[in-house]
Amino acid sequence: MTQQSSLAESLAIHPHVEKNEPMLMLGCGNSTLGEEMIDEGWSGPLIQVDVSSRVIETMSHRCHQLIQNGHMNFVQDDACELSAFRDAMMQACLDKGLIDAIYCAEEHNQLSKILKSVSRVLRPGGWFVFLSFSRPEFLLPRLLQEEMQDVVRKRRWTNLQVQELEKILLYKMQKVDFNQDNELRFPPHRIRNDKARRKHKQNLK
Ligand SMILES: C[S@@+](CC[C@H](N)C(=O)[O-])C[C@H]1O[C@@H](n2cnc3c(N)ncnc32)[C@H](O)[C@@H]1O
Repeated sequence: MTQQSSLAESLAIHPHVEKNEPMLMLGCGNSTLGEEMIDEGWSGPLIQVDVSSRVIETMSHRCHQLIQNGHMNFVQDDACELSAFRDAMMQACLDKGLIDAIYCAEEHNQLSKILKSVSRVLRPGGWFVFLSFSRPEFLLPRLLQEEMQDVVRKRRWTNLQVQELEKILLYKMQKVDFNQDNELRFPPHRIRNDKARRKHKQNLK
């Protein structure tokens, strides 16, 4: 199994998100992750966004068959705005590498803007799922800076989870659905480390 197909599996937003619900992928670059997801049964449509017109052109060419089948599309847009997308039209938003790149470039105001635009395009109860090499104790205070500071407005996010995969961290957070009786588990966050847990179980046997 390739690294990317295992990442696609690890996104594991099913059953929270049905495989045929609209999903957005931010900063897709030339990654094959979207194609791997479609191979694994996701039908989306999966809309991939990148700020670079060159990326959009190359990817649209490479994935023309999937575009024709209605499983995928590519849109040039800035993740800080997502101006091509209406409010509450996506059930999930995925990212591999964009949040990380922006965090490492110390463009912290862009992190807040991305989180705000993702929240806007997600339906209530929708999920933002991203893969990052950055540790939560450093990344989350930056990413959630505005959310944490704004004590007047209601929280936008709940159910924050961080899962340690073999080489990367998987972050998941859910947009609050104010029509549901949300249990606001936020913060603190919980880091799941499946490998460590399995090892611990084995040691107990
Ligand atoms: C680190 S690369 C990750 C690419 C891909 N997701 C991967 O895993 O290989 C970041 C990508 O995000 C794009 N990008 C940077 N800033 C962006 C923004 N504000 N909005 C949308 N895309 C952006 C870049 O053009 C680049 O393709």
